[in-house]
Amino acid sequence: MKQYKFQSLADTNAFFGEKLKEAACRVIDSGWYLTGRETAAFESELAEALGCAHAVGTANGLEAIRLTFRALIENGRLAPGDTVLVPANTFIASILPLTQLGLRPRLVDPDPETMSVSYSRMADEVEKHPEVKAALPVHLYGLPAFDREGFDRLRDRGIVIVEDNAQAIGAETFDPASGKWLSTGTLGDAAAISFYPAKNIGALGDSGAVVTSDARLAETIRQLSNYGGSVKYHYDYQGYNSRLDEIQAAMLRVKLPYIAAERDRRAETARVYSGSITNPLVGLPYDSPSVRHAWHQYVVRTPERDRLQAWLEANGVQTMIHYPVPPYRQRCYRGVLEGDFPVADRLAAEVLSLPIANTSPSDAAEIASIINRYS
Ligand SMILES: Cc1ncc(COP(=O)(O)O)c(C=O)c1O
Repeated sequence: MKQYKFQSLADTNAFFGEKLKEAACRVIDSGWYLTGRETAAFESELAEALGCAHAVGTANGLEAIRLTFRALIENGRLAPGDTVLVPANTFIASILPLTQLGLRPRLVDPDPETMSVSYSRMADEVEKHPEVKAALPVHLYGLPAFDREGFDRLRDRGIVIVEDNAQAIGAETFDPASGKWLSTGTLGDAAAISFYPAKNIGALGDSGAVVTSDARLAETIRQLSNYGGSVKYHYDYQGYNSRLDEIQAAMLRVKLPYIAAERDRRAETARVYSGSITNPLVGLPYDSPSVRHAWHQYVVRTPERDRLQAWLEANGVQTMIHYPVPPYRQRCYRGVLEGDFPVADRLAAEVLSLPIANTSPSDAAEIASIINRYS
């Protein structure tokens, strides 16, 4: 029986042929492994690719979120105890840095159709809860959460916007106000990106970055990531060691030119899935002509999810669940994150991610026909 893997990082990296090995050797031979030329070049290439003034490499995506919020506190834009909106159905790494910094996450139940919390939905929440100071929209699965009306309402109320762009590098959204396509990562005060190996653009280990057009914020983040100072042995903040390694920067420089190509390749596979899955028991993910979805995950929904997963497994198709247990139901947040989130609960029981990272359109058509035979 043919096997359909969920993802093969070896295949992903084989696509780049000798280029990754050459880049790794260049760094090994240079004798310089941290805060050097590769990282500086990567940061300016990333900023340019997304259309931001600044990028700061970090150890991973979680650290990119942590450093951004800590810098906002150090710069006086937020204070410990402030309330930050965050979707109830996100990955736990969106929320850990908030609670660890003494900020108060206020969870927002997602929209059942998009599985996402839009900027407008966040703006509604700000109107109901004027104590909110910041919002952390998550472009979950690669779908931009931005909408112009919501963005303007958040801005009018002075809300700090930090995008969790961990899953959405390459995604774009059409902005009716300017008539332009805007990249996720430019839709707030700053954005955190993850280059975890399985992401659309992945390092060969942990890596991340913050992008922003706020020079002061970028500088504070850079200092915080380097123990708290920019001059060796002189520290303005009680910082962290959370830098991007030279070798990972070199790997990422090989991959950066493929941001749009990777998105479009996945979109082709997603189109085949959405055009071929006709089983009424299976709900398809939301898409719209006004977004260029990055399709980090292709997530279907079905009431008896575990049974569909077992059916696919029995037919050689590997799937995954993003995410089976929402953050507020995790043991670490017992008594901390409160409230009822019926949509997030239902999604946790119903979502199933189909293979997309290394799946060709013709394999997607075969997987769709396996799904169509499920009853
Ligand atoms: C939505 C979201 N936020 C944050 C992160 C954290 O990124 P990292 O794994 O690089 O720490 C991830 C990725 O794993 C993620 O999917």
